[in-house]
Amino acid sequence: MLEKNQIYQVKIIDDGYQGEGIAKIDNFPIFIQGAIKGEEVKIKILKVQSSFAYGKIIEIIKQAKNRVESECKVYNKCGGCNLRHIDYEYTLKIKKAIVQNCLYKALNKNIEVKDVIGMKKPMFYRNKLQYPIGLNKNKQAVMGVYSNRTHNIVPVSKCYIQNKICNEIANDIFEFINKNNISVYDEVTLKGTVRHIVIRIGVKTNEILVTIVVNDNNLKKDKELVEYITKKYPNIKTIVKNYNTKNTNVILGDRNEIIYGSGYIYDILGEYKFKISPLSFYQVNPIQTEILYNTAIKSIEKNSLADKQIDIALDLYCGIGTIGIFASKYFKKVYGIEKVKQAIDDAKENAKINNVENIEFHVGDVEEILPQILKNINKTPNVVFVDPPRKGLDNKTIDVLKKIQPEKIIYISCNPATLARDLKELEEKYLIKEIQPVDMFPYTSHVECVVAMILKEHL
Ligand SMILES: C[S@@+](CC[C@H](N)C(=O)[O-])C[C@H]1O[C@@H](n2cnc3c(N)ncnc32)[C@H](O)[C@@H]1O
Repeated sequence: MLEKNQIYQVKIIDDGYQGEGIAKIDNFPIFIQGAIKGEEVKIKILKVQSSFAYGKIIEIIKQAKNRVESECKVYNKCGGCNLRHIDYEYTLKIKKAIVQNCLYKALNKNIEVKDVIGMKKPMFYRNKLQYPIGLNKNKQAVMGVYSNRTHNIVPVSKCYIQNKICNEIANDIFEFINKNNISVYDEVTLKGTVRHIVIRIGVKTNEILVTIVVNDNNLKKDKELVEYITKKYPNIKTIVKNYNTKNTNVILGDRNEIIYGSGYIYDILGEYKFKISPLSFYQVNPIQTEILYNTAIKSIEKNSLADKQIDIALDLYCGIGTIGIFASKYFKKVYGIEKVKQAIDDAKENAKINNVENIEFHVGDVEEILPQILKNINKTPNVVFVDPPRKGLDNKTIDVLKKIQPEKIIYISCNPATLARDLKELEEKYLIKEIQPVDMFPYTSHVECVVAMILKEHL
């Protein structure tokens, strides 16, 4: 029986989902963070559960050829890029296996998954930085990232997946906060002002949106901060104070106050321009987003896209309307549904600025709004795009889809586990035609998939 603190030498027989290697002692699995399949490592047992244990590497005896040196200083403490010790090409193979395993477990059969589409340069790709600001043990202000599974802030001044300019701006704002003794939020007493800095950049337009998340109305020297930071970075188009007074893990509150500029920025994806506001969802990796959306659009009907317009499409969980607008030229009419009002306001504006007249957006929960729209249009949509949050589709929406039976469902998912669960339900009526993973989040264990499904009756 394994016990805490025991030392073993083990062979890593598989890669886990989150940058851990898996070894077995007498058939008992041990998860070892940072180990790679094929390696031989000396480990210390950290914790023993009823059916598995956790171990920690003490020494690498035989190193895998896929191991790389991480250039990031805080990699071992940060909970973000848990695959950074692995060669990028091999991380794509791990991600493909994650998708395959989830599908196999849910559907009880092997389903072909295409190779993950990776990035040519998987660095500095994020267009949205969000750093918590708080107090360290010595009650000094600190800005950085939460260390793995905790709320301790690890100081970070350079992150290898964030846009470089956003990194610099965050550092300058934090320096200003420190120099001017601006109060920062204390998660213990729930007092203090600045909680987060969120910075978004339109990588094609170079427009920057800074959001300062505050816990109260006491942000000192905000005018001086605006003057200093906008002078230094003229690309900052707008600065917004966002009030979040709740004791919560959610970063943004509901209320914004514009303290500089218009309150929004624009970015360009493909041939379209998009307005982005602080509360609206916008994919964080714009280079891969174009690939993701084009993969989704191609799945509509590979051979007939160029010459044929199809009747009706739905864009469920539409955010600022990106997928619906990308798809609009292939349909007579597109309907988008999204629950965040600010995102729907952006979506309507986005349709206007791109001269897309055949799209209509509705605000509300998909569960509630979808049945109403279907009743109003009184026709079966031909294609339904769904792009839900990590928790996937709810039962009500799955039931509605199975009942109305569109010819195609294109499911865009950022969570292979809930994707597999939902495909199991939809598989009753739909044939899974293609699963294309796209690496939207290099070096993290997240993976995005586009799944094309076709109604079995239609075959
Ligand atoms: C993964 S994002 C996709 C957004 C968009 N398709 C895109 O590519 O930018 C999921 C979106 O679903 C919205 N959402 C979450 N739950 C919802 C619900 N029950 N009904 C409608 N929208 C919801 C979120 O606000 C978010 O904008």
